[in-house]
Amino acid sequence: MTQITDRQLRQVRSEAPVWAAPMAGGPSTWRLAAAVANAGGVGFLAGGMVSAQRLTEDLRAAREAAPGRTIGVNLFVPEPANTAIPAQDRSADSDARRRRAEQVRQFRSSLLTPAEQAGVTLPEMTDLDPDAMDDWDAKLDAAVAESWPLVTFTFGLPSREVFERLHAADCTLGVTVTTPEEARAALDHGADLLTVQGPESGGHRSTHHPAATPPTASLLELIAQVRDAVGTDVPLVAAGGLMTAEDVRRVLEAGAVAAQCGTAFLRADEAGTNPVHRQALDASAAGTAFPTTALTQAFSGRWARGLENAFMRTHTDAPAAYPEVNVLTGPLKKAATAAGDPEGTNLWAGVGVAQAQTGPAERILRTLTP
Ligand SMILES: Cc1cc2nc3c(=O)[nH]c(=O)nc-3n(C[C@H](O)[C@H](O)[C@H](O)COP(=O)(O)O)c2cc1C
Repeated sequence: MTQITDRQLRQVRSEAPVWAAPMAGGPSTWRLAAAVANAGGVGFLAGGMVSAQRLTEDLRAAREAAPGRTIGVNLFVPEPANTAIPAQDRSADSDARRRRAEQVRQFRSSLLTPAEQAGVTLPEMTDLDPDAMDDWDAKLDAAVAESWPLVTFTFGLPSREVFERLHAADCTLGVTVTTPEEARAALDHGADLLTVQGPESGGHRSTHHPAATPPTASLLELIAQVRDAVGTDVPLVAAGGLMTAEDVRRVLEAGAVAAQCGTAFLRADEAGTNPVHRQALDASAAGTAFPTTALTQAFSGRWARGLENAFMRTHTDAPAAYPEVNVLTGPLKKAATAAGDPEGTNLWAGVGVAQAQTGPAERILRTLTP
């Protein structure tokens, strides 16, 4: 187990115990990260599904706009780098992989008619690669070369070598966990801190095994379970449904050092939330549409929580196959977004969505600070 150093802890300490959650797919702009950091919180960039070059440029922009403040970077762990999946299940000719390809093929067939109706062409099976790397190596190289102060991993657990290499470059390293077992494994690999993600969370659940059913114990229960498993010395950052200063106070009292808030910042002025998503969030907050959130695998092949819409209700048979399903549904999501249709694209949001505020991130951060 790695002991977090005083210097590392200073890097992640902030005036406000609030971190802006990394939100891939648009919402986490460098402007949002800088605004949250300048307001006294920890700003975050979402490094999943963007190139290493774009991420590096965004981080430079955020650091320039928020000098001396902490800006974290979050990376998706691609399947070939995810040690939580047994090696035999990761090999291309394994039974698990063959079954998965068949499920993806069937799901693709079920999307052919919707694709025709939307006037889009679905990717071929050969375009759907379970081993897609998401520019992982280049992102790690950039983290080392530029000594990124705070890096967190989601969707799995990288090897000990990755932790050693980034530690040598002075990075403080976190892992998002959804169970006490994942917490223990993350510390064993060298994590300095843990982001404890409860089922209330918007967006993807970070179960380390992609086919795992996400646990349902509440965030407060999970914090207690993780505390029991790893003790009280490990900094825990709590995530899931934290929308008010009172919510944040509760997780701090439960032993977290900070709250990681996503949905609370989705409607912020600086967020890059696309207009269709934003309008649906507005309607949900106003009580005029999208009253509920639900978990789905339909959009990406990984469990994620969003405003419940027609696509989710129709495609309950989507397989656990990220990133293939994410790529497969790409043209449909893009067409729905372009057409202004909130029923056909992912509208990620947590259970507290009705309390999400509009306005500058600085003001939202103040409403979250106990
Ligand atoms: C739109 C959206 C995108 C997200 N993208 C990421 C991501 O790229 N990486 C990550 O670790 N977590 C991601 N999350 C999950 C957040 O880190 C966090 O766990 C969650 O937002 C907390 O729940 P809340 O939304 O109720 O605050 C995302 C959440 C949302 C709402």
